[in-house]
Amino acid sequence: MPVGFQYIICEKNEGIATITLNRPDALNAWSTELAQEFLGAMEDARNDESVKVVIITGAGEKAFSAGADIKAMKGMTALKARELSNMGYKICNAIETIEKPVIAAINGYALGGGMEVSMACDFRVASDKARMGQTEINIGLIPGWGGTQRLTRLVGKARAKELVYTGKIVDASTALQWGLVNMVVAATELMIAVRQFAQELAGKAPVAVKVAKALIDKGAEMNLESALALEREGFGVVASSEDLQEGVSAFTEKRKPAWKGK
Ligand code: CAA
Repeated sequence: MPVGFQYIICEKNEGIATITLNRPDALNAWSTELAQEFLGAMEDARNDESVKVVIITGAGEKAFSAGADIKAMKGMTALKARELSNMGYKICNAIETIEKPVIAAINGYALGGGMEVSMACDFRVASDKARMGQTEINIGLIPGWGGTQRLTRLVGKARAKELVYTGKIVDASTALQWGLVNMVVAATELMIAVRQFAQELAGKAPVAVKVAKALIDKGAEMNLESALALEREGFGVVASSEDLQEGVSAFTEKRKPAWKGK
């Protein structure tokens, strides 16, 4: 059953929660209200054991999200800007710390904060109509929701600087070539492809997925020796799960595993 909010649509189906940013008239720009609803939906997905994967997308044909609400920036004080930056931090943090895969289904423009939110997701699947950019420079601003950092980690300094200094918008094939997105599919196929991918992920051993997410995300910020030590600990934790025993039994008995998530 879809649960109705004013600025998002949240649906849960077969272990997949889909959160649709729903301000299509403003190209799904993030208002405070939208952000609050989104954080509520993410908290619900975090606590709902039946949810295995989260998909984030945008309502309408044109945009995933055109970023923070520019109209709310008129006369913005430094303190308000700090609040806005904190809001983006909370949104991206909710995505990165949920112990489940999160997929951004980029159905159109992903600009400024919209692109930054997509970069906090584990995967980005773009429609061939997707357009991505850190366009803040065009209004005399810089990315404030992690764009200077996550973008650099994703595509390297040279391309991050090209995008952030120029505000240029790249098309889906360039985004794919630069490693900004995992795959590009025809616009009409986007949600079918993303749901298929989500179903595939939802069928994997939950403890292993959860620990792999933490190791890859945390390890990428550490020196190699410390990250490898963390991996050895994580390996021990996953090896002690009932899921490993189930996986081994299923392999030897030539059947599909029935994961317990413990
Ligand atoms: N905030 C508020 N409203 C926005 C918006 C935004 N970020 N982006 C688009 N809109 C609104 C437009 O104002 C317009 O509303 P009205 O009909 O009331 O005028 C409506 O959405 C449709 O947009 P356009 O008419 O501009 O559509 P277009 O097809 O001509 O252009 C676009 C599309 C190129 C995406 C253009 O809308 C645009 O450049 N938007 C701004 C994108 C941007 O710079 N985002 C960065 C925001 S700053 C940020 O995100 C900071 C951060 O790091 C957190």
